[in-house]
Amino acid sequence: MVPTMGALHEGHLQLVIKALEENDIVVVSIFVNPTQFDNKTDLEKYPRTLESDVKLLKTVSKTQIIVYAPTVDDIYEGNTVSKRFDFDGLEFEMEGKFRHGHFDGVGTIVKRFFEIVKPHNAYFGEKDFQQLLIIKKLVEKHQIPVNIVGCKIHRETNGLAMSSRNTRLESHYKKASPFIYETLKTAREKFGTKSATKVSEWVDNQFAKHDLLELEYFLIADVETLKPVKRKSNKKKYRAFIAVYAGEIRLIDNIALN
Ligand code: PAF
Repeated sequence: MVPTMGALHEGHLQLVIKALEENDIVVVSIFVNPTQFDNKTDLEKYPRTLESDVKLLKTVSKTQIIVYAPTVDDIYEGNTVSKRFDFDGLEFEMEGKFRHGHFDGVGTIVKRFFEIVKPHNAYFGEKDFQQLLIIKKLVEKHQIPVNIVGCKIHRETNGLAMSSRNTRLESHYKKASPFIYETLKTAREKFGTKSATKVSEWVDNQFAKHDLLELEYFLIADVETLKPVKRKSNKKKYRAFIAVYAGEIRLIDNIALN
C-alpha cells in the first residue's frame, strides 16, 4: 500500500514503483484526511486532482494498481474526529509542537487504512520523517501486521523536496525555495566541526537575512527519539529538520547528517 493525499507527483510515483517492484498488487489510497489539518485554509486549498492522479498512476501500471479513494463519510461515518494516540513522545517533537493534533489525525487514518486494506508492506517517504517514525511506532504498539518501508526524499532538479503543496507556490517563492535544501546541505557540512547550537544559530541567521522565506524551526535531532541533540555522540545518528513558510505555504525538509 502507498497511502497518499493525492495531487500525486514524481515523489509519489517513486514510492509506487518501489512498491510494484516488491509486491504483486499495490493499493494507492487517495484521501485528503481532514483530521490531520490544524489549519482550515490549508485543508480547503489542498489540491484535489483525482482524475489526473489516476492518469499518472496508469503510466506506471495499468494492471497492478488499485486506487482506493474513499469519501470522508466512508471513513469517519459522520463523526470526523481523530482518536488519541500515545507515540512514546515522538508526537510532541518538531511538527507536534507546531501542528496540534496532527499526528492523532495521521494515526487515526493510517490505522483505519491498515485495517481496511490489510497490506503486507506500506511505503512512506522520508520527507515526513517524523510521520514515518510515528507510523512505525503505531504498528508496533497496536501489533498491526504490516512492514513499514521508508523511502528516500525525491527532489526537484533545483533541490526542493517534492510535495503536493509545491504546486501552490507562486513563482517568486518557487524560485527562492531551493535555498532550503542548500541551507540544509551547508548545515550538514558545518555539523562536521561545529556544535548543533552553532549550526542552528547559523541557519537562523541565514533565514533572518532572507526576504521571502520565513523559518519556523530548524533543529538537529537524534533519528530515533527525535529529541534535539545537546551533546554530539559518535554512536548516534542525527538529522537536521526544517520547516519554512514561503508566503502561506508551509514547506518541510530534512537531511541525514552522519
Ligand atoms: O503523508 C501523507 O500524505 C499523509 O499524512 C498520509 C500518510 C497519507 C495520511 O493521510
